[in-house]
Amino acid sequence: MLLKNNILKFVLSVFCVWSLGCGQDSRDSKNPKLVIAIDATFVPMSFLNDQGDLDGFEVDLIKAVVKNAGFNFELVNVEWGGLFGGLITKKFDLVISSITILEERKNRMAFSIPYLQSGVSVLVRKDISNADSLEQLAEIKATVGAQINTTSYYFLQKYEGINIKTYEKFGHAIIDLANKGNDGVVGDSVQANYYFNKNKELTQNARFLGSRLSSENYGIVMGKGNIELKQKIDASLKELLKNGTVQKLHDKWNLGEFAVVPSSE
Ligand code: ARG
Repeated sequence: MLLKNNILKFVLSVFCVWSLGCGQDSRDSKNPKLVIAIDATFVPMSFLNDQGDLDGFEVDLIKAVVKNAGFNFELVNVEWGGLFGGLITKKFDLVISSITILEERKNRMAFSIPYLQSGVSVLVRKDISNADSLEQLAEIKATVGAQINTTSYYFLQKYEGINIKTYEKFGHAIIDLANKGNDGVVGDSVQANYYFNKNKELTQNARFLGSRLSSENYGIVMGKGNIELKQKIDASLKELLKNGTVQKLHDKWNLGEFAVVPSSE
């Protein structure tokens, strides 16, 4: 009886170890599959369409880049706040989510060559008529919203006097603006323009302060140290920049003058 029990325990434990191993190693098998994280709350770059599938400029782009590089892949929808942590702890292999290439970020992760040039734009309530610049918004101690830990947020930190209101999602900052919960919002220009046109309240009650106020490059993000992956992604992206694929997607998603496809040279 005792022997039988021990055999059973042994068989069970071998099975557990084996199945655990399978789960962990599936990504290292002969046919490597890249896990790609993307934040689906940033229309028209990435969002869930009516069928509940990931869709948008960056979804199309990353599929084209990894297929062209010969990888299998799986897309996972991860919120902005979880993207960098998941990459660093190797839950995902790649992240694409309108992420600006910044020197500080390069200490923790690797970036591909740029796939888009964009920048920040500022939306202000129309009834705040005495401010036509961020300096003036600072003077009147305005409350301006931005998504936390984004370049928009860092941009606002340069203006002493502005009361920064942070949001987990860019869309929430926009809804708050429409409800007069803040005086203005800073965001990536493509997305700010999209939400501005989409939300009737905003179109009527808000205005842009100038146009694009900064120049930033978006890159695909990878773990540091995977040089082979970076080389493959860069080579594939370079080819798609050169053969016009990226520009075609820019046209398909109507990114207009708010974002520019970098030259492939
Ligand atoms: N480009 C900005 C940055 O890198 C904002 C990115 C926000 N992306 C997003 N999917 N919510 O900081």
